Amino acid sequence: MNLFAVKPLSRIIEESESGSHTLRRTLGPVNLVALGIGAIIGAGLFSLTGIAAANHAGPGVVISFLIAALGCAFAGLCYSEFSTMIPIAGSAYTYAYATMGELLAWIIGWDLVLEYAVGAATVSVSWSAYVVSLLKDFGIVLPESLTASPWAHPAGIVNLPAVFIICMISILLMIGIQESARVNGIIVVVKVTVVLIFIAMGWAYIDPKNYEPMIPANTGAFGDFGWSGVVRAAGVIFFAYIGFDAVSTAAQEARKPQRDMPIGIIGSLVICTILYVLFAHVLTGIVNYKDFKGSAAPVALAVDRTPYLWMNKAVKFAIIMGYTSVILVMLLGQSRVFFSMSKDGLLPKVFSDVHPRWLTPYRSNLLFMVFVSLFSAFAPIEVVGEMTSIGTLFAFVLVCAGILIMRKTNPDHPRPFKTPLVPIVPILGILVNFALMFGLGWSNWLRLFVWLALGLCIYFGYSRHHSRLALDTMAKKK
Ligand code: ALA
Repeated sequence: MNLFAVKPLSRIIEESESGSHTLRRTLGPVNLVALGIGAIIGAGLFSLTGIAAANHAGPGVVISFLIAALGCAFAGLCYSEFSTMIPIAGSAYTYAYATMGELLAWIIGWDLVLEYAVGAATVSVSWSAYVVSLLKDFGIVLPESLTASPWAHPAGIVNLPAVFIICMISILLMIGIQESARVNGIIVVVKVTVVLIFIAMGWAYIDPKNYEPMIPANTGAFGDFGWSGVVRAAGVIFFAYIGFDAVSTAAQEARKPQRDMPIGIIGSLVICTILYVLFAHVLTGIVNYKDFKGSAAPVALAVDRTPYLWMNKAVKFAIIMGYTSVILVMLLGQSRVFFSMSKDGLLPKVFSDVHPRWLTPYRSNLLFMVFVSLFSAFAPIEVVGEMTSIGTLFAFVLVCAGILIMRKTNPDHPRPFKTPLVPIVPILGILVNFALMFGLGWSNWLRLFVWLALGLCIYFGYSRHHSRLALDTMAKKK
């Protein structure tokens, strides 16, 4: 059997439109942009901006946000071309199958579990921390044993709030894509409003002295301020941008994917970049970057320096909302990628069973509810959380490479959206995203390799023997 068998484009598109495993096409451009923003604004912006400023870049973190945005923009343009050519739920996995062959497709599909399922688990643990803190503000104290994993706290047993949010969202996803999109839309309005209020109200309290110097001098080591610090900070806050690519996993549920996929992907990325840059500018303008050292709640630190103390509760509420939609889109993306892998025979059929009435892959949602809940409840989340960034960057690199290959192998296939300046944009995408991966350090690389090795065991043990492409090719030969 050929490990590098490429799935023909015509076959991919034909399969997506036939059969009983079809999803409902209901999402329009506004839903798709909202889906992107829903996945993007979350833990990265609210927690990592302060950390990146204090440890690596000072007020120069604004430039870090622009660098990370650049890497994402290159990847986003490549994702847009693919998602209009191949409007299938599998996203990067399907693109790899059509260009680099089955083995790499499997690797990328397996890698996306790090972005989506592990990402959702990570954010659910932060969600839990904020809910516990907000409840405390209202005088309700939950015991540590039930709100932390044994790794996070000596008294911790299980993180029940994190399990709760994973279960609630999984149930919502089972019931329907439109219902999920509606809930996401409401949340996005709340969180964007709070971010805008913070920027508008905070602007008057900026002290220009905090911007001097814009990039604090390097203290000797790589990443300790100076320009290397700005680049290192870009790797840290990259997490804040993860999610725009999840829009492409909803391609099979978009009414007009050819027109709306690029709008959803690029639109959400542009809106969030503008918000992030303004937010970081105000945050590091109100509070001196040195003061963020060791602070778990950078936004609260800034709000405390303005007269608008009521904003602290509002911000907490928005953060909880924000994290909720991030989890929603991550779990959505996860079930859709496995949906495609299962339809190709690389995973058991249970992952592509569609509910007769809800028209969602409900069994897959259920299985991920269990798997992600276990992670949220008991895992050492700080460690696995960093794997989300490296896994996503790896997917970006492969998608950019896929565009270069696809232009060679299928030069004449209609491309409703074309990545501009090929090969420059994909090559720059590969370079910038690889540089960000590099900046994440060897321990994360090692974990990535271990995860991929586990995936290869499954591929050679199961998937390879069940691949529909391989089975069909064999049948034809006979
Ligand atoms: N971008 C998402 C967040 O920052 C993953 O929470």
